[in-house]
Amino acid sequence: MALRITSLQEYHRLYEQSLRDPDAFWAEVASDFHWQQPWTKVSEGGFARADFRWFSGARLNISENCLDRHLKSFGSRTALIWEPNDPNEINRTFTYRQLYEEVCRCGSMLRQMGIGKGDTVCIYLPMIPELVISVLACARIGAVHSVVFGGFSSQSLADRIRDSQSKLLITADGYFRGNKPVYLKQMADEALEQCTSVKHVLVVNRSNFPIAIHAGRDSYWDQHMAKSSPVCEAESMDAEDPLFILYTSGSTGKPKGLLHTTAGYMVYTGFTFLNVFQYRENEVFWCTADVGWITGHSYVVYGPLLNAATVLIFEGVPQYPTWSRWWEIIDKYQVNILYTAPTAIRSFEAHGDHHLQQASLRTLRVLGSVGEPINEEAWHWYYEKIGKGNCPIVDTWWQTETGGIALSALAGVTPHKPAHVGWPLPGIVPVVMDENGNAVTDTQTEGSLCLARSWPGQARSIYGDHERFIQTYFSRFPGFYFTGDGCRRDAQGYYRITGRIDDVIKVSGHRLGTAELENAINQHPDVVESAVVTLPHPITGESIVAFVVSPDEVTDRNKLEKEVMDLVARTIGPIARPRQVFAVSGLPKTRSGKIMRRILRRLIQGERQDLGDSSTLLNPEIVDEIAKLLEHQPVRTD
Ligand code: PRX
Repeated sequence: MALRITSLQEYHRLYEQSLRDPDAFWAEVASDFHWQQPWTKVSEGGFARADFRWFSGARLNISENCLDRHLKSFGSRTALIWEPNDPNEINRTFTYRQLYEEVCRCGSMLRQMGIGKGDTVCIYLPMIPELVISVLACARIGAVHSVVFGGFSSQSLADRIRDSQSKLLITADGYFRGNKPVYLKQMADEALEQCTSVKHVLVVNRSNFPIAIHAGRDSYWDQHMAKSSPVCEAESMDAEDPLFILYTSGSTGKPKGLLHTTAGYMVYTGFTFLNVFQYRENEVFWCTADVGWITGHSYVVYGPLLNAATVLIFEGVPQYPTWSRWWEIIDKYQVNILYTAPTAIRSFEAHGDHHLQQASLRTLRVLGSVGEPINEEAWHWYYEKIGKGNCPIVDTWWQTETGGIALSALAGVTPHKPAHVGWPLPGIVPVVMDENGNAVTDTQTEGSLCLARSWPGQARSIYGDHERFIQTYFSRFPGFYFTGDGCRRDAQGYYRITGRIDDVIKVSGHRLGTAELENAINQHPDVVESAVVTLPHPITGESIVAFVVSPDEVTDRNKLEKEVMDLVARTIGPIARPRQVFAVSGLPKTRSGKIMRRILRRLIQGERQDLGDSSTLLNPEIVDEIAKLLEHQPVRTD
């Protein structure tokens, strides 16, 4: 029986137990899964060299745990429901048996194409069933999946393929997002011009857009699947064998490939899904995240399927054909649990409650929020208008690095509080650090959020760069994992996330690095240097504002500003497009040449007098110039 926490007392008891004897606690959680061979040690290693390991010696396959294990009792239960972008197109559903068969065929197909244990497969697909099938098929044959969000540019795709040395790419001819066509195969072709590792490209036929087929490299998914074997033995994996690489932005350099391994990730996502959402048999769970992000990995694919849940996936966007679409989907499939991001909630609120008029939403039981802080107003709107005042909200804090939810209420079991993520999950030991690196012991406090102990779902490394992993997460506060977030803790011990305290930004819940944005901008031939800052935004949480320095001879500043926006969208993806660009003659700098983004941030927020400590400012005349410019060309806050 899976370990389910059903009361407040039990939460406190198990939380205590998880601190007192973490190995015993996690061994109990793990006993619910299917192991080909048991572990010899539950946990070992530590943060100093970031060599923590979980369930050493065990052998297993996570796809067996998501599929085979359920066939006997739940083979005819719906595993996956797919709602297409176009509401008039026919949907698709898969029972656990059907999903198992598709995954086996896909696994056989991959093996046939020479992919085996330890090879990396890049998956660049829209939200269609083949995305879930490919992920699970990789896991089945021991290949490492590297899913790249379909909204990323060809350049971002190329960077990820090159870094991960993917051997095979799974993509689609194209698809529609709302009424906008996305030419996915074309972008994949552009990316592959820069990559030598990919030997085969499998193309899912989704849109019938005309595409170029490269003989000897490209072939169609359907043709292979039709002739591939429905029998695909699951590879026996070591507990610490890599399961996937997922790229995410940091404060420096290019996005890094976080590496997750098999057993710990499985135990953690399975446990957190069941307990945070308090999932009940036969309920329909809808996580609106794309599988291209960690939320999609952990709570579209692995967490729910490990619990034999019914998962809904949606290919489209909230506003197509109208802003009522989500509510129609919830009523159509009788969704019980909705898990989404604050940006979506704020967009719905901004577009007016009349879109909800036709919706019943009576099947909803639990609401979830993830990816960015949820403000109180949006929390109340979600609670009242969507939850009708009787669905608990789980505001779940976690990261690509944590693998699964780390701080959150457990729906209906532990209390929820607007704009607060609540208490830690069992096994999670949050510590608030002051600026001197001392752990604050007072309950009520504010500082940098760290975690004091490893948990099974923790990322094990940055692919190909373990030193960077240690440097990024374990060196600032030795002995602790540094999350990069600031937080407050109130008198009841509830945590509230105040946002990133490094150079990572969150726009519509998407994680981007200022360095990555500036690198993209600096590619423009007329840009000498640039600085990216963000402005609070009522819907997207933050919006990107870029300052660019160009040579004196560039006279058409409007043209330059527009080109910079397009360049960023083309280089990284449309999600990274700056809201506004200002061409300036210089940037505020310290005497040692460091850009003072803090001053830019204050200036765009309308501050003119109090710019903070400017004793190290080298060029006050630039600050005056930018202040004047902002008077003529106001910052957009809409
Ligand atoms: O800043 C925190 C924010 O998202 C960051 C992690 O981003 P990513 O790796 O893309 O994963 C997002 C989905 C798990 C965190 O460092 N964040 C995530 N959840 C919350 C949050 N901020 C506030 N409240 C949350 N519930």
